[in-house]
Amino acid sequence: MTRAVSLEALSAASIVQEYGSPLYLYDLEKIEDRFDRLNASLPQNFRLHYALKANSNLTIGNLLARRGAAAEVSSLGELIAALKSGYSPQEMVFTGPGKTNHELAAALDYNIGLVVVESASEARRLDILAAERDRKQPILLRINPEYRTLNSCDVSCAIGGGDTLKPIAMNSQGGSKFGIDEKHADAELEAIQHLAHVDLKGIHIFTESNVLNYQHLLNAWRNTVAIADRLRAHGHPIAVVDFGGGIGVPYNAVDPHFDTVAFGQALAATFAHTPYHYILEMGRYLVCEAGTYITEVLDIKQSRGQRFAIVNGGVHNIYRTPAMQTASQFLTVPGKETSATVPTTLAGQLPTPLDIIVRDAPLPADLAIGDLILIQNCGAYGYNHSLTNFALHPYPAEVAHRGDRVAVIRDRGTYDDFFLHQKLITV
Ligand SMILES: Cc1ncc(COP(=O)(O)O)c(C=O)c1O
Repeated sequence: MTRAVSLEALSAASIVQEYGSPLYLYDLEKIEDRFDRLNASLPQNFRLHYALKANSNLTIGNLLARRGAAAEVSSLGELIAALKSGYSPQEMVFTGPGKTNHELAAALDYNIGLVVVESASEARRLDILAAERDRKQPILLRINPEYRTLNSCDVSCAIGGGDTLKPIAMNSQGGSKFGIDEKHADAELEAIQHLAHVDLKGIHIFTESNVLNYQHLLNAWRNTVAIADRLRAHGHPIAVVDFGGGIGVPYNAVDPHFDTVAFGQALAATFAHTPYHYILEMGRYLVCEAGTYITEVLDIKQSRGQRFAIVNGGVHNIYRTPAMQTASQFLTVPGKETSATVPTTLAGQLPTPLDIIVRDAPLPADLAIGDLILIQNCGAYGYNHSLTNFALHPYPAEVAHRGDRVAVIRDRGTYDDFFLHQKLITV
């Protein structure tokens, strides 16, 4: 950490004065707290991996690696980020649809612990590359289960009529680009086991994300283990079960946090004596609540009865899908916390109607040009999920703090960054 300030001075205003805006601010102690809470609650036969897609900043990845996390990566770029962050390749799981031969070869050359194949044909491509290297690569097969709980990406709210307390329903699903359908698993596993240079270790099933009620996840994971049991009974060598990610965070001030203690107890009671080694690949839960996106109001206007606040940021800094947009209502305006609010559409600087951060957010009636807006819970799928090159506005900076010690962990960069690797030719 490069600079110490008093705790009172660690205000959004002082951070912005020092580092400019827009920026992402991360609280490193919160990340450690979430990792420790979850890790301590897990039974012995579980291993916690950090899903770098949530936030691949090297400081954050390294913090979790030093804390004891393994890694989950879904591209060669993330694999390199994980290596630079200090993760051991043997402790990495390489997931994701559409891996190129170049990526599969890199996984082999770096000696990655487990590659999750999405189909028998991907397994065959890996087998050929492994044979060329005289290797036998441990793999999991990703399966698209027949039933799932359908809770992905809900931004729930207990007071606003959200679903956190609804009973759990398991629903049959349509097609998916991920994995192979459960009903074909036997045949595909059979085919894969004939390959001499891949070593089938188990299965990977990841169905839902941002789940707040631990019973939902438990139910889905019970279903996964029932599938593993069936495949094992059919003679397939299933020793590892990878549940993917899925633990959620409340994107508001009213929903309860995911109960890691009760979840850990339920996991122990349900899975501790099963014959599997379990992998979790958590992203959102570990880093989301540690991150705040800070932006500044540039303009306020009315259009056909709607109030708009235009900020010096936008979807090139923080892009949330329509299902997740309401998460950006979880915000504060420093100094105006007690003001009456007016529904306001928060929009960015890009010359496109797509650039809406959130519609009808409860913003202070006395919001003024120059006010800062702090969107909470942006540590996961924030910086990494944005449309950074749209309209060539500078990147947001990333700043981290541990208590009152503050440091930049990614510079904003310069305009020259947009032209790196470009070639201007006249033909
Ligand atoms: C394969 C895989 N693993 C893990 C994760 C992380 O999920 P979460 O952020 O819900 O923990 C994802 C997210 O998309 C994923 O695709």
